Order: sequence, then C-alpha cells, then structure tokens
Amino acid sequence: MIHRTMRDFLSALEKKGLLRRIARPVDRMWEPAALARWMYQALPAEKRFGMFFEKVKGSDIPIVTAVLGANTAAYAAALGVEPDGINDAWVRACRNPVPPKVVDKAPCQEVVITGKEVRLSCLPIPVWTPGKDKGAYITTNTVTRDYNTGIQNMGVYRTMVRDETNLISNLRPGRQGYLNTLTWTDKDKVAPIAWVIAAPPAVHLATVANLPYGVDEITLAGGVMGEAVNMVKCRTVDLLVPADAEIIIEGEIHPGETEMEGPFGEFAGYMGPVERRPVVRVTAITHRKNPIYYGYTSQMPPSESTTIQSLTNAGVLLKILRHDLGEVAVSDVFIDLTFAGMLGHAVIAMKPGYPGHSKKVGRLVAAMSPLKRVTVVDEDVDIRDHTHVDWAMNSRYNPSRDTVLIDDVYFRVGIDPSVRSATSDVAMGSKVVCDATLKVDAGPFSLPPKEIMMKALDLWKEIGLPEFEIPRRARLRIDRS
Ligand SMILES: Cc1cc2nc3c(=O)[nH]c(=O)nc-3n(C[C@H](O)[C@H](O)[C@H](O)COP(=O)(O)O)c2cc1C
Repeated sequence: MIHRTMRDFLSALEKKGLLRRIARPVDRMWEPAALARWMYQALPAEKRFGMFFEKVKGSDIPIVTAVLGANTAAYAAALGVEPDGINDAWVRACRNPVPPKVVDKAPCQEVVITGKEVRLSCLPIPVWTPGKDKGAYITTNTVTRDYNTGIQNMGVYRTMVRDETNLISNLRPGRQGYLNTLTWTDKDKVAPIAWVIAAPPAVHLATVANLPYGVDEITLAGGVMGEAVNMVKCRTVDLLVPADAEIIIEGEIHPGETEMEGPFGEFAGYMGPVERRPVVRVTAITHRKNPIYYGYTSQMPPSESTTIQSLTNAGVLLKILRHDLGEVAVSDVFIDLTFAGMLGHAVIAMKPGYPGHSKKVGRLVAAMSPLKRVTVVDEDVDIRDHTHVDWAMNSRYNPSRDTVLIDDVYFRVGIDPSVRSATSDVAMGSKVVCDATLKVDAGPFSLPPKEIMMKALDLWKEIGLPEFEIPRRARLRIDRS
C-alpha cells in the first residue's frame, strides 16, 4: 500500500499499533527528545513505536518523531511492503526510477509566510540533546540544486536555528548538498535551498540513499512508490519541493556567509566539534493548514537515523552489486541497524564462485560505501541474526588468512573518535573486510538429520512443550542436516 502523505502513513501506523499519541503537553526544549532517547536506549527494537506529541507548549503544531525508523516493521510499513520485502523494493525502485511531476497547487502551500512575516519560532523545532546542544535544529530532507545541470539533490543535513530568520546548515564538505551550493557561490551567486518537513514516507526514506552525484533521490522515491511524486515550485527560491509535504522552509545561501555551528550530539555517540558552516537566510515558510512537524531522533545509536539509513542503503548496495557490477553471486545485504552509513557494519550473503571472490566483493562494498566493516558469509547464514553471523565468524573465519585491512581511508569527519590522535587532530582511518565464507568442505553439521529433527518437533508438540516459531537460523541448518 502506497502512502501519499505522512498523515495517511501515521493513521496506518496507528492501526498497526506502531504509533503512540502523547496527549500531555510537552516542552520542545527537552521532553520529546529525552523521551525518544529512552525508547531507543531501553526498549528492544520490536517494542519501539513512533511518537506523536499532540500538544506542544507554546505552539499549535504537534511534533512527531521515530515514526519511520522505530524498527524494521515501521520502516516496512512506510514503504508499503512486508519486512522481508524491503531489499526487493529498493532494488526494483533503483532499476525503475520515476521522474517527478510538477503541479501548480500544493497542500504544502496552503499557508504562505514570506518577507518580514517570517519567524522560525512559528515552528516547534526541538532541541535534540538537551543540556548539551547549542540550540534547536531541523533534521529533515534538504533540497539543493546544481547550477550547471539544474539537477536537484536531497540529503539530510542538520540545520541549526540561529535566530528568527537565519539558519546554519551542516552541509559538510564532500556532501552532495554542499557541492551543489558551491556551484552557485563559486560563481558569486546566491544558492537556493529548502527543507521539506513530513513529506510522503518514501521521499524521506529515499533521501538517505547514497546515490551517485547527479541522481536526484526524488526519482528513487517515485520508483519505490510506483508513481511520480508531485512537486511544486517554491514561492521565493527556484527549487521544486514535494507538494504533499506538511511544511517547507525556503532559503538562500549568500557567498562567503558562514558561521560556527554546534556543538551538537553526533551519530557516533559523542558530542561533535564546532565548525564553520554556511548561513541560510530564510525567505519563506509555507505549510498545510494545521501542519505536523517531524524531526528524526538521531545522535547516540541506536536511533531512527541509523535505522532508516541502514535499511535504505542495504537495498541500494544490493542493486549496485547485482545489477551494475554483475555480482549475481550476491543474494542479500544487511547493514546493522545500530550503526548506519559511516562507521557501520554490512553483512553480505553470497555463493563464492572462485577463490578470493568473497574478499573481492567485500573490498568493493568497503570502497563504494562509507561503511567501516564488511563481513561476507555464505548463503546458508541468516545475515540478520548476529548469533548466526558470529557462528560463521567462529567456524569459517581464520583472521590471518581471511582479513583484508584497507588503510589510509579519509573519513572526512572528526566525529569518529577512533580516527583522532592524542592531539585531537584527525588522522587517517581504515576499514576491515572479514571473509567468513567456507574455504573447504567442512563436512556435515553436528545436528541430527532433518527427518529426526522434524519427528522431534511433532514429539515436542505432543508433549505440550512451549510453542515457538522456528528461527531462520535453525531452518537453514536443519535443511542441510
Ligand atoms: C537524522 C540524520 C541526520 C543527518 N545529519 C547529517 C549532517 O548533519 N551532515 C551530513 O553531512 N550528513 C548527515 N546525515 C547523513 C546524510 O543525510 C546521508 O548520508 C545522505 O545520503 C547524504 O546525501 P548526499 O549523498 O546526497 O549528500 C544525516 C542523516 C540522518 C538520517
């Protein structure tokens, strides 16, 4: 089922029991963030839920968080598929992108605030690491455009509220949003920029995909929805934004205007450095009547941010490996949900075709992704079950023979403390590929044969022992026993 608006999705999530409404008034300066942190720090993934703060003190606009990335079930619901269909949905979308459709009238422009009327305090923008962060910031999709090609890009770049009409955006050097703004400011032109708050779910989930420069994530969102995303022209800047979003913030980056941004909590789990970043002059705020504000729960993992980045990019990697690089021996990719893009851990399932094949695939993944660790296993391992992956590491991985260390990797950021030297300078990082595929025939598994195990299952039921669902790990083993 496709969700064409965030509102539709919230209703669907509530029906599935994956959304909690909080009616008690909350203080945006600390309460939504601190409650969401407890959810991620204390509850197992399957017990987490999206949070809908209905009443925000001093605002008529409710705040939602964690709705797309509470857990795999919520993410799958946002895509409109079953959890085991997530990778297929991204592979299909990457292979069948759908360009957006431009419309004249848009719900996100039911209310238009421009010029002197613009006040960022009209939005309930939360503080995400209360007690430590410099202030409130926006975490949602940021739209930029390449001056030369006209192609837009979407990415999530934390954006700090400086005052009523100015923002400071964490457009990190190297990021595509940053490269796009340079195509304007290097020519001494004003770069357009916009933030999209609470768009159709597929738009959010496609935005965090690591796609080649020049590929607009909105075409991937169209691919996953199976139809064009409606886009509308911004009122004050030359950009297109999703028409069905709840809120849009439009702005301009003027050449040479930068200021210090931070400190803010970072995804590695520590407070990040203060760095110079572009200032944005806000030119308009447009929104639906009675809009909903959405901010991602990020920083200390696990978080909503790590969940959505892992699940989107696993599917994108699978598509690149199988369909662009011809590595059809790869059957599945999983990125650990606790750590996402940078610093993350990917597990690849494949049927190696020749000696060194699994190491080659591991190297490819390490080279084309920001992931720090890549583990390659055979297809008889459930890559989403860490006990099964650890078993493969114990029984099929010989560290001195099966490890590839990739040195001299520049991680671009100093927010990973492991790449800092004693003087706090940022040093070069490294990556590791662990090849945990079988190199020899290790003989039969030390489990009774399948027919005995299945007979014992009948006996288990007959005796009335507690019921269980056969884990995939056990099924894979028994099928080969
Ligand atoms: C909640 C959240 C916050 C993020 N914050 C930043 C950020 O401040 N700066 C940044 O460079 N990337 C950040 N990212 C990661 C990028 O959005 C992500 O890697 C995206 O794919 C980058 O897009 P690009 O490759 O088009 O530049 C964040 C991601 C999420 C989900």
